[in-house]
Amino acid sequence: MLKVLGIETSCDETAVSVVTDSKLILSNQIASQIAEHQQYGGVVPEVASRSHMRHLDKLIDLAMEESGCGWQDIDAVAVTAGPGLIGGVIVGVMYAKAIASVLNKPIIAVNHLEGHALTARLTADIAFPFLTLLVSGGHTQFLAVKNVGEYKILGTTIDDALGEAFDKTAKILGLEYPGGPALEKKALNGNADRFKFPKPLCNVKNCNFSFSGLKTAVKREIEKIEEKGVEKNICDVAASFQKTAAEILAVKTKQAMNEFNLLFPNYTKSFVLSGGVAANKVIRDNLNSCCKEVGFKFFAPPINLCGDNAAMIAWAGVERYRLGLKDEMNFQPRSRWSLDS
Ligand code: KG4
Ligand code: ZN
Repeated sequence: MLKVLGIETSCDETAVSVVTDSKLILSNQIASQIAEHQQYGGVVPEVASRSHMRHLDKLIDLAMEESGCGWQDIDAVAVTAGPGLIGGVIVGVMYAKAIASVLNKPIIAVNHLEGHALTARLTADIAFPFLTLLVSGGHTQFLAVKNVGEYKILGTTIDDALGEAFDKTAKILGLEYPGGPALEKKALNGNADRFKFPKPLCNVKNCNFSFSGLKTAVKREIEKIEEKGVEKNICDVAASFQKTAAEILAVKTKQAMNEFNLLFPNYTKSFVLSGGVAANKVIRDNLNSCCKEVGFKFFAPPINLCGDNAAMIAWAGVERYRLGLKDEMNFQPRSRWSLDS
């Protein structure tokens, strides 16, 4: 049984995991830095990289212990090599290279976005090709996933990522970082039909998004409300924003499905919702319905594997290893790295 050690340090989670090619997650350690960044209202890159340095060593020990593996049982080391906050990526890559050198085992440089895109294959049987909507804090894009390492971007955001829009809207509402989950919680008690927010680019027949206008509209609406701190108003804005975001995704997903069908007319139709925002229940439900309408099978990773974690990196490592896609020890950490490059 192939066993891959995965390391993820590209943003504000230090994470280490051991995953097998038979889809067993032997360990999945995550140290969240939320408490360290909360006082700043967002991720501070320098604070993040120092925190990765402080925690990674211990987390690797914990992950190895939890997995029940000895070092000689590890067949390869997979690490997020980008895109992300470069200081953090460097920390992970240096550790991974050191471990792989000492063990004399292959190293696999994983694109963080590929980690998100392939996670659903760790927990469900999904054949290539499939369509994924990757929605995270830094990216919002439709990808036709032809195979491991073979991606075609069908559309992307022209400004903010959806996770970023959730975070900024939450901040405007006075909610704590990280904003996405906090906003979803408020929305549970809100009236989603109270405010009508714009749906930018929804009348344009392509798969691109724009979220900065939506965030500005929310800001203007809140300025109009006289009793700003009132819980009901916060919940109603949160629910209306979330509903609008989910509706925009549904419109664009149908468009992306049409384009996917033209590219791959003779294959099973699978749609995968991936990335941190995929944890949002309203968005999951909306896109699940959308799949039923258009005749695609809906998949999304379990909630605990939607946000950043190392099991997704270890799994991408397994997928790459099986195809002989290993890397040279001198690969560089990258802050930017498009999946179709
Ligand atoms: O994939 P991820 O963990 O990190 C990046 O690669 O960016 O995504 C983080 C983003 C954040 O913007 C966070 O607010 C958002 O995902 N997010 C959510 C939810 N959980 C996380 N957005 C909406 N609803 C959620 N439940
Ligand atoms: Zn991510």
